[in-house]
Amino acid sequence: MSLLSVRDLVTEFQSPSGTARAVDGFSFDVQPGEIFGIVGESGCGKSAVCRSILRLFGGAPARVAGGRILLEGAGDLAAMNEHGLSQIRGRDVAFIFQDPLTALNPTMRIGKQISEVIRRHRKASRAEAREAALQLLRDVHVTSPERRLESYPHELSGGLRQRVVIAMALALRPRLIIADEPTTALDVTVQDQILRLLKERRDSLGTSIILITHDLGVVSQICDRMAVMYAGRMVEIGGVREVLDAPSHPYTRALLAALPGNVSRDSELVPINGAPPSLIDPPPGCRFSARCAFARPQCTTGPAPALRSRSGAAEDHLDACILSEVSDVAA
Ligand SMILES: Nc1ncnc2c1ncn2[C@@H]1O[C@H](COP(=O)(O)OP(=O)(O)O)[C@@H](O)[C@H]1O
Ligand SMILES: [Mg+2]
Repeated sequence: MSLLSVRDLVTEFQSPSGTARAVDGFSFDVQPGEIFGIVGESGCGKSAVCRSILRLFGGAPARVAGGRILLEGAGDLAAMNEHGLSQIRGRDVAFIFQDPLTALNPTMRIGKQISEVIRRHRKASRAEAREAALQLLRDVHVTSPERRLESYPHELSGGLRQRVVIAMALALRPRLIIADEPTTALDVTVQDQILRLLKERRDSLGTSIILITHDLGVVSQICDRMAVMYAGRMVEIGGVREVLDAPSHPYTRALLAALPGNVSRDSELVPINGAPPSLIDPPPGCRFSARCAFARPQCTTGPAPALRSRSGAAEDHLDACILSEVSDVAA
C-alpha cells in the first residue's frame, strides 16, 4: 500500500488578475522507503504541490480547491481541519524548505529550537529534549554539536543551517519528508552532503522522501521515481532510469536535450525556448504545444491529454502526449 496517494490535486492562488490554477489535476503515489522526485521549470507548480500536502502556504492567498491527499493511516489530509493537520505536521510528515532561514527562529538558540520541536509532540524533560537535540545534531554530522546547541542561526553557515533544519525535520521520525529544493541555496559540495544525509535516513529508517528540484543531476543521483511537471500538470512519470534514459514526452526530451552532455552530478535545467502559458487562462489541449517542435493541429484543441503508457516502455512509465509513437517525437 502507498504511504501517500495524491489524487487529482487542484491548487489555486488568488491574484488581482484572477485565479491561477498552479496545480491542475496532479496525481502520484509515494511508496514506503521511496525517494520521489518532482522536476520542472520555475513557476510550474512544484512548490504548490508540496505545500498543498500539509497546507503550508506561508500566508499566500492559496487553497486546495480539489482532489484527495491520502496519507496511510491518517485519511484525507485535504479534508482535514487545521487542528488535525497540525498533529500530522512534523510528526508524520516533515517539510524542509529551500531557505533554511525561513524555517529557523533568528532569536532562539539552535538547541532550544530543536528541543521545542521534540517537546511539542512528546513528553520529555528539558534535559531529555536537550540530549535528543544533541544526538540529532550528531546524526546530521554537525561537528562540535555541544557548542552548536548554544549558537544562533546567524552564527552558522548556510550548509550548517540546512543541517539544523534537517535535524528538526528528523526529530520526530516522520514517515515522509518533503524537501522543496533543499540544496538550491548551497554550494555543490554541501549539496552532496545534504543529499547523502537524506538518503542515509531513507536507507536506515525507510523514511519516504518527496524531493523537489530543478536539477536533473540530483534526481539521477538519489531518486527512485520521478515526475516531470509542466504548467500545473504532470507530463511524464516513471522510474528515474527509464525517464532519463528514454524520455517520451517532448517536454522531457527538450529538457534533456538542452543539457550539456549526460545527466550528471550538476545538471541544472537549462531554459528552453519560449515561455509557459498563463495559469489563469490556460489554452486548450496540451499546454506544451506552443513550444513543442512536434505539435500537430490536434495538440492545440480539446481536453488536456491524459497520461498513458507506451508499448515497449515500462508499465509504470507514463506520459501525456497524444503523438502515437515515441519515434514521432524523436529529434
Ligand atoms: N504567493 C503567490 N501569489 C500568487 N500566485 C502564486 C504565488 N506563489 C505561486 N503562485 C502561482 O503558482 C504558480 C506555481 O508556483 P510554484 O509552485 O511556486 O512554482 P515552482 O515551485 O515550480 O517554481 C506560479 O506560476 C504562480 O502562478
Ligand atoms: Mg518552488
